[in-house]
Amino acid sequence: MKNRPKIIFLASGNPHKIEELRQVLTPLNIELKSTMDVDEPLDVVEDQPDLQGNALKKAKAWHDKTGLPSISDDTGLEVDALGGEPGVYSARYAGDNPTYEDNVNKLLAEMKGKPNRSAQFRTVIAFVDGSDQYFFEGICRGIIINEKRGEKGFGYDPVFVPERYEKTFAELSSEEKNKISHRGRAVQKFIEFLKK
Ligand code: IMP
Repeated sequence: MKNRPKIIFLASGNPHKIEELRQVLTPLNIELKSTMDVDEPLDVVEDQPDLQGNALKKAKAWHDKTGLPSISDDTGLEVDALGGEPGVYSARYAGDNPTYEDNVNKLLAEMKGKPNRSAQFRTVIAFVDGSDQYFFEGICRGIIINEKRGEKGFGYDPVFVPERYEKTFAELSSEEKNKISHRGRAVQKFIEFLKK
């Protein structure tokens, strides 16, 4: 990267992601814009075979549209006993337009009776600036428990207990989760890169 950008575009309208990133970019004097600041929506289909492909596709599409250095992330839950599934299909594990609960129920059904409970969340961030492309990966290992616990968070949080913890992600505060989470770690790597 030649110069540290003054504005970065986040290819997402998720208020949690926007806030999380804004908090770490503000001390670097970098303004964050997101799809919330754009009038015309851009529907990027996440049809790539892996997390890196989807993240890059979204970041590139928004970079082409806005002309701004753009970042995007894609996350998957990779369960060892299921050969890495649901992985890149985590959002639609239980079929078309499932709720988070549908996906969690399907996961618990697939994991029934499986002794190996280990799993990981993995996030890949893609950053596109002109013709340059960079990737940042964050991993959080843990286990899938047998029943849901906790009300916070989203997605598979109620059944995922991170390593060295007893609580599920859905029982931790967002600050505690961000410190150790896959996305938090990928964002930290991106910030280190921007600081260089
Ligand atoms: P996305 O790439 O951030 O849209 O994530 C894809 C899917 O992975 C989501 O629909 C969730 O089901 C799941 N997911 C992503 N991040 C998390 C997390 O931090 N906790 C639980 N589930 C997550």
